[in-house]
Amino acid sequence: MSTAMNDVMIEAHGLTKSYGKPGTRIRVLDGVGLKVPRAGIHALLGPNGAGKTTTVRILATLATADSGTARVAGHDVVADRRAVRRAISLTGQFAAVDETLTGEENLRMMARLSGLTRTRARRRAEELLVRFGLTDAARRQARTYSGGMRRRLDLAAGLVGSPEPGVFFLDEPTTGLDPRSRRELWQVVRDLAGRGAAVLLTTQYLEEADQLADRITVLDKGRAVAEGTPETLKSRVSGHRLDLVLSSREAYLRLATRAVHHSPETLTLGLPTDGTAAHARALLDEIDPHRTDIDRFSVRSATLDDVFLALTTDRTEAPAHV
Ligand SMILES: Nc1ncnc2c1ncn2[C@@H]1O[C@H](COP(=O)(O)OP(=O)(O)OP(=O)(O)O)[C@@H](O)[C@H]1O
Ligand SMILES: [Mg+2]
Repeated sequence: MSTAMNDVMIEAHGLTKSYGKPGTRIRVLDGVGLKVPRAGIHALLGPNGAGKTTTVRILATLATADSGTARVAGHDVVADRRAVRRAISLTGQFAAVDETLTGEENLRMMARLSGLTRTRARRRAEELLVRFGLTDAARRQARTYSGGMRRRLDLAAGLVGSPEPGVFFLDEPTTGLDPRSRRELWQVVRDLAGRGAAVLLTTQYLEEADQLADRITVLDKGRAVAEGTPETLKSRVSGHRLDLVLSSREAYLRLATRAVHHSPETLTLGLPTDGTAAHARALLDEIDPHRTDIDRFSVRSATLDDVFLALTTDRTEAPAHV
């Protein structure tokens, strides 16, 4: 319906959610908003308990927000719950695959349940088995599948209906997979978006968000602490660190506010840099013009974990938009 006029497929504003009894209520979402267009991949990145699954459950109509609004495929998630459910595919720990059936039987059964005739269900199952690289395993019980095959079967199961859903919610789609299976699944997700679907995925891995997503929302303790493209997010915390060992406590304190890494015991501070000689040289000259304050320095690549930690440990700043 209204999606024809509007390319935004997933849209949320100011979602809040608390759990627990009055007095001991804990706010697990504190004003989360996001927008995902058709063919877009958006990652919700955050540590355990950040509120990722809660956000997905609200958008997929499995939970209700205390306040805020959300529309999926043009439908309000509360008022038009049924329309939302028809437009989405949700995979995560709630997948409906029957372990004792083969991959093929699972897909056929779900296709039948979604209203396809026997012949069309068989054809649809075959198509999906090919598309998800499961033809060799098609006749094996799903419980014998590896983690990666199982995830692909889950995804295929979400697609059996016709038309294919325009919105996908993938809750930690690659957790526990080996690197190769993870890359295969990434390709599957890219293909979904390539066909025009909007994808919202949750992950604890910055690398995954970086590889897949057009935009990332970093969630921490129910708040969006940063939002932007992978590039802007990385440049915000920068790709490298210039680690300085300072000659005195005074120098350490003077420069501490500029650092992203602090180690007071060793008088070491890490300052963001792009890693180029030009920048490192200019930075050293700028912060130590008399060449007395810095004893030693080293340049190291910020790991993706560094980036993530920098964004999710500082609880004093207001949400940042980059
Ligand atoms: N039904 C519930 N009742 C009480 N608390 C809940 C409920 N569901 C979630 N929570 C709490 O809400 C917070 C956010 O949980 P959520 O599952 O959204 O986090 P997450 O980011 O998906 O974490 P993970 O990475 O571990 O999957 C957690 O502290 C969790 O304990
Ligand atoms: Mg979760």
